[in-house]
Amino acid sequence: MPTNTPTNKFYVTTPIYYVNAKPHIGHLYSTLLADVITRWNKLKGKETFFLTGLDEHGQKVHQAAKEAGMHPQQFVDQMVPKFTKVWERYRIEYDKFIRTTDNEHKKAVTKLIQKLINKGKIYKSTYSGFYCTPCETFVTPQEKKKNKKGEKEVLCPSCQRKTKEISEESYFFRLSEYQQDLLKFYTENPNFIQPKSRLNEVISFVKSGLKDLSFSRQSVSWGIPFPEDPTHTVYVWGDALTNYISAVGYSNNQEIFNKWWPADLHILAKDILRFHAVYWPAMLMAADLPLPRRELVHGYVIMDEKKMSKSIGNVVDPQMLADLYGTDQVRYYLARTIPTTQDGSFSLGELEECIKSDLANNLGNLLSRCVTLAIKNNLKTVSLKQSLDSLDTDCKNLIETLNAQLVVIKNNMDQQLIHIAVSEICKLLSEANALFHKTQPWKLAKENSERFNLVTWCVLKILYACGHLLWPVMPTKMEGLMAVIGHTIKLDTSVIDKLSCNEVTFLLNPLSESLFPKPEESSKKYLTNQDKTVKQDQQSENEFINIEDFFKVKMVIGKIIKAEKLEKSKKLLKLEVDLGPHGIRQVVSGIAEYYTPEEVLGKSAAFVINLKPRKIMGIESQAMIMCTKDSDGLCILSPSKKTDPGSPVS
Ligand code: MSP
Repeated sequence: MPTNTPTNKFYVTTPIYYVNAKPHIGHLYSTLLADVITRWNKLKGKETFFLTGLDEHGQKVHQAAKEAGMHPQQFVDQMVPKFTKVWERYRIEYDKFIRTTDNEHKKAVTKLIQKLINKGKIYKSTYSGFYCTPCETFVTPQEKKKNKKGEKEVLCPSCQRKTKEISEESYFFRLSEYQQDLLKFYTENPNFIQPKSRLNEVISFVKSGLKDLSFSRQSVSWGIPFPEDPTHTVYVWGDALTNYISAVGYSNNQEIFNKWWPADLHILAKDILRFHAVYWPAMLMAADLPLPRRELVHGYVIMDEKKMSKSIGNVVDPQMLADLYGTDQVRYYLARTIPTTQDGSFSLGELEECIKSDLANNLGNLLSRCVTLAIKNNLKTVSLKQSLDSLDTDCKNLIETLNAQLVVIKNNMDQQLIHIAVSEICKLLSEANALFHKTQPWKLAKENSERFNLVTWCVLKILYACGHLLWPVMPTKMEGLMAVIGHTIKLDTSVIDKLSCNEVTFLLNPLSESLFPKPEESSKKYLTNQDKTVKQDQQSENEFINIEDFFKVKMVIGKIIKAEKLEKSKKLLKLEVDLGPHGIRQVVSGIAEYYTPEEVLGKSAAFVINLKPRKIMGIESQAMIMCTKDSDGLCILSPSKKTDPGSPVS
């Protein structure tokens, strides 16, 4: 049975996601929590292992492959980058990306099930009942409901969709034998599931009685062959849950397995609680393996009052959000506003507000004002020159608040209450802002250099602490912040424990640009359009344009004959475009993050030429290049064969 001794290692997992669709913000949220928690443990000096990956077998994925006209293996292979690219962009730094089609995983599943067979925990019988393919779950019909046509049907209790009646031979796992052991385990490990309310749900489910679990499918070919009977495949959940042990050497490396297993934390949402809190522990008990230490069951990211999900069609693309707002800003927003153990609404307005108030104002402005003022007054090296007791009340209070808050923040992070920890960090920054305003260091710089040094040090000390504390949430931005105050994030020992130490000196460097620029006008415009597309179905007749309206837009092919970067901008390129009879025009275009000047030189593309010219960063733009954008980034619209400059687009 499991031992719950704390160690200096931390092994955290996310669910492995079905590959039938691209990841959305809901998937990003679970994966982000795992990344934040991993980084937090790194800051505490722990050795960490972060696992994520993909669930590639089963009926649902097979169906998606069929619909795409591909062999399932080919289908899943081309889906992998759709996940890894998002994770990479968002700096999700996993240690292993597991795929259930990996050989080592298949071996682990075979080994585990063989063990259950050898121990007499599997038997053959017939399953007659209902199956929900979207949830890949067997459904016991509580009641039959009438559909619109008056026919009686069994709906899935989890997703409310129609289930399919099946009757087939199946291998069953003796789940019912584990009812008492499971209940005993929950009692002895009251912190096994976070939050407690979810543990209570699980307990009442187990108390209501457990039935043996159908553990193989005869009619599903896309899966791992069932040991000793390849006419069956392993039930997709038996296959998927095993990923947590196959990734750490269960089938092939006992040393690694002993080092990492049991997992310290499984992260999941409530939709898959039963699989993780009942079936998985029972499977492990049956195989004499230790149980995971803890499971964090987070709520749903909600959009328009419904769970964000592809089947509902209310998903938000993480790549698009990153383009518009930046990845750290999105990471921060999700960590700050979605309560870790409850549902939370996603709103673009709130995201913008959060960037403006918390990041640009409370954090970014404070850093920039404090550092710029100090450098302007030749204060480039800042250290505490007196003892803490001799500080004036304002400064002393701030440092004492910091020390008290460190305990609160640490406790919340350790309990995976990330949103509370972040909000406490915000409070600290507000306190530092208050000190800055109250003491007016711009006056002190002229009148009292000793106090100017002290106030500056105090504010920097808060920024230094918050930089560390927020690093798990915004790694790139906080590394940037640290560089400005002459530090780096060091992970060799527990830096968290040292944040209350006052022997820290800051070497200031000027900021080249603000840490959190306010969202750009262009993104706002884009969002207005996006908001409309979400409500596409309600498009009314008078929103259509007629052909005359369309022809008001003059679009022609232009050839780019000169291209250069704009010095002060990461996003803009300045182009000179040959538009044939319409002359040569200068165009400023926001494509620099996707194309170098060399890549666009000589390219032909579609340009709108009758937009009113406008100045962008002081340079007049006399036409607009047409592009498209998807999750892989931006792409210029070019004619498919050589076309004369000036040819109309219609
Ligand atoms: N393949 C199974 C999991 C197997 S784990 C051994 C599966 N995959 S899934 O693609 O449907 O992912 C479900 C998980 O994705 C949820 O438990 C949650 O972690 C995450 N989320 C999906 N949509 C979400 C929201 N709208 N909000 C929050 N999390 C979301 O089930």
